Amino acid sequence: MNQLDNFSYDPAKCSLATSLYAALEKTAGGALPTDIDLLVCFKALEQPPEKTLGDYALPCFRFAKALKKIPNAMAEELKRELDASNNPWIESVILKGAFLNIFTNQKQVAKTLIPLLINGDGFKLLSSNPINNKTKVMIEFSQPNTHKEFHVGHGRNVCLGDSLCRIFSYNGFKVIPVNYIGDEGTHIAKCLWAVEHYKGEQLTEAIVNKAEWLGQRYVEANAKLKEANDETKIIYNTEISTILKAIENKSGKYYESWKITRQYCLEDFDRIYKWLDVHFEHLFYESEVSEASQEIVDEYIAKSLFVEDKGAFGFDMSDKKLGFFMARKSDGSTPYITKDLALAKVKFNDFDIDRSIYVVGSEQIFHFKQLFYALEQMGFEQAKQCYHLSYGLVVRPEGKMSSRAGNTITFLQLINLVVDEINQYLDKYKDEWDKAQMLDTAHKLAVGAIKYGMLQADPNKEIVFDPKEWVSFEGNSGPYLMYSYARTQSILTKAREQGLELSLDHLDLLTHEAERDLMRHLYDFNQTVLYACENYKHSTIANHLFFTCKAYNRFYNEVSVMKAETEDLRGARLALLNAFGNTLKKGLYLLGITPPEKM
Ligand code: ARG
Repeated sequence: MNQLDNFSYDPAKCSLATSLYAALEKTAGGALPTDIDLLVCFKALEQPPEKTLGDYALPCFRFAKALKKIPNAMAEELKRELDASNNPWIESVILKGAFLNIFTNQKQVAKTLIPLLINGDGFKLLSSNPINNKTKVMIEFSQPNTHKEFHVGHGRNVCLGDSLCRIFSYNGFKVIPVNYIGDEGTHIAKCLWAVEHYKGEQLTEAIVNKAEWLGQRYVEANAKLKEANDETKIIYNTEISTILKAIENKSGKYYESWKITRQYCLEDFDRIYKWLDVHFEHLFYESEVSEASQEIVDEYIAKSLFVEDKGAFGFDMSDKKLGFFMARKSDGSTPYITKDLALAKVKFNDFDIDRSIYVVGSEQIFHFKQLFYALEQMGFEQAKQCYHLSYGLVVRPEGKMSSRAGNTITFLQLINLVVDEINQYLDKYKDEWDKAQMLDTAHKLAVGAIKYGMLQADPNKEIVFDPKEWVSFEGNSGPYLMYSYARTQSILTKAREQGLELSLDHLDLLTHEAERDLMRHLYDFNQTVLYACENYKHSTIANHLFFTCKAYNRFYNEVSVMKAETEDLRGARLALLNAFGNTLKKGLYLLGITPPEKM
């Protein structure tokens, strides 16, 4: 196997690395030191901070040291060899002290890149990585709690998780998308308690968003508890804990109403997933793992990892600054984190995964630190391959929302705000398009606006949700990107109708600076997706697409496509335009977005 096999997404750099290696061999006048190989040459070629400094920059210090030469002299010799190498990718090599700035040959780029982006093979280069192909990655995301509304944070989570699955698949990993539904716990007992004791409005078929309705009962329960005096509070809490026990013991009338209301919530969640075009391969439930988690506690008490501490069981992690890991409370109940032990065990053993990713809000950073460390101490090898992708809040311009206080907007409300904006925009087409097209376009635009809004920001940063900004057709927004795509398709359709075909025969005519710039962006697409995968940074893809669209708009404004000076040039420009459209569509796909073909 060639050391550069996994880098076929960057043919220019592979070729330059090969020439560089040969140049080094020549200047060394024989065999190179063993620490200089093709891979080192590949990695030495950097992306310069500014494009005026070339497409690749090569600092020569390391090679000078290895070959015992002065850096500037080394650079000079390498320039001479590279100039003489006849490498078709090299346009020019500029000497700057101990650095070389290398400009790639635009004709070679066009000839190689554009056909690959038109026939789609360019989007398969990362997926053939043999190591990734053997690696099973489980990505857990969404994880809403039943009996509560699906809030905007869950919305951000779904967008992140679904896109991550697509990005990992694109990079050749075997991906298993899973969900873990919180269908057990005090919040549910409180909700059912409020329904039982405050027979105001009752849950009927007519209520559309039942999870949301149940979530409001939970808020009511909290309010009741808050206003109760100490004595009443004790009575209330006993009632709530009776309900909790009934659910956990799976018997009695509360268990029956738990089953019904739980099912309602699951159906509500499914509607959201369907609208967002998000799919899971497997669903885990908290209620499924609670029994097994008690068994695990017993197992590790027997193995003396978990020890007693004032009636509770767990172990001390304070040497890692992680406090006490509480596996069983003194009243015998199972904390949330213990269920995670059981869940992780199922993931490792039954699904045989190599890597495990949890997409969960940043308020649970400590939880996952404790969890991963506990798994490691319990002897699970895969504990080291667990990763918590955390993300920040989604806020309204007026500040933080909290479901306890009941001042949230739900994800469904956010969807409605966006859909309203989109419909206002599309109103102008209502006489031109049929109803199906109106609906389909509105849906695609709304999904794209939301997903892009959620993914364009760095996951660690808070997002301020502003519906106007998210649906704007200008600026860094989903609709702007989708519109750019639709425009390419309408140009291509128009060309076809006029009998004008794109052609791959004269790509060497694409020598304009705006064409060069656009091609550079297209060339960097795969590398960007690779980076996003290695660093869990969807936002780099979003922003790369945004700048690619800007480069495209510049190209479209500065050169004429349909009225190009010659037929050959028009064919080549149509090909570049098509390559751009395909790349944008693929990039949007990785963010979970399907743009309309026509707008
Ligand atoms: N349902 C939980 C919550 O809303 C999140 C679950 C996260 N996943 C996990 N394996 N703990 O807080």
